Amino acid sequence: MRDTDTPKSESAKPRQSLKGVANGNPRPERREKLYTDIMEGDTLLNITDLRVVFKTDDKETIAVDNFTLDVKKGELVSIIGPSGCGKTTILRAIAGLIEPTGGSIKIGGKECRGPGSDRGMVFQDFALFPWRTVRKNVEFGMEIAGIPKEERHERAERYIKLVGLDKFEDARVHELSGGMKQRVGIARAFVNHPEVTLMDEPFGALDAQTRNIMQTQLLRILQNTEQTIIFVTHSVDEALFLSDRVVMLTKRPARINRIIDVPWPRPRERSDRDFVEMRKSILDELEKENVMN
Ligand SMILES: Nc1ncnc2c1ncn2[C@@H]1O[C@H](COP(=O)(O)OP(=O)(O)OP(=O)(O)O)[C@@H](O)[C@H]1O
Ligand SMILES: [Mg+2]
Repeated sequence: MRDTDTPKSESAKPRQSLKGVANGNPRPERREKLYTDIMEGDTLLNITDLRVVFKTDDKETIAVDNFTLDVKKGELVSIIGPSGCGKTTILRAIAGLIEPTGGSIKIGGKECRGPGSDRGMVFQDFALFPWRTVRKNVEFGMEIAGIPKEERHERAERYIKLVGLDKFEDARVHELSGGMKQRVGIARAFVNHPEVTLMDEPFGALDAQTRNIMQTQLLRILQNTEQTIIFVTHSVDEALFLSDRVVMLTKRPARINRIIDVPWPRPRERSDRDFVEMRKSILDELEKENVMN
């Protein structure tokens, strides 16, 4: 799948922080109501001793155990780990789509129970309505929330523009390329101003070239919004390119093996020696984790 509508100037501007960089794109989005007392850099999300056990008739699967993580407002934290180790389960628990067996998940100090508009999700398989237009997909959550039509249109328009799809507002989603569909998914999540956005291998289904373009576009989008992101990926390269921190998980049940601070300013150069060395050391560690278990 090749993304053909990619804007020409999409390289991220040099910066230390992802936030608040004026670059001529739509104005920065501010959270209107909840959690306004939590400043960028303060802890926003606390996950303590999370445990998820799936019980079926004849067996019990411990998917996540003893998982503790604090995420700061404005941080982009990646989670990587072996296939089937429990990454999606962690995101689904944070999203409130499954009930944890134990432990706690708090946003702004308040316990999360069930789904809420303070958390948004971007799915690997897009999970869009194929026969709805781009605009109608982006507006969906706001429709459910009963937001008036004018505000819905205005917000949808702003976010569709932010992801570079303003010429495609009335196209039906099934007519779009994979990269474009995923941009609709990102706009649909961000338009609801979630406090935390959970992204489950959002670029996993894309070809390598489109994937790199999407990573750069995501960083550009994040310059214009106040977002806190938990990003699940299988790609060490993607994790190092995007993240402030990388959480490495063990084999199932998912426990934290190591947390890596990624020290470099953005935009990052994948061919830099430090980048290449860190990627290799993480890959070696992941391989060891796979072999040893
Ligand atoms: N609803 C469910 N019922 C029973 N078992 C489940 C359920 N959801 C997940 N599991 C099991 O929990 C474990 C973790 O699954 P999960 O989907 O979280 O892994 P993952 O790390 O996201 O894998 P992948 O990298 O392949 O996406 C797996 O063994 C899976 O079979
Ligand atoms: Mg998964």
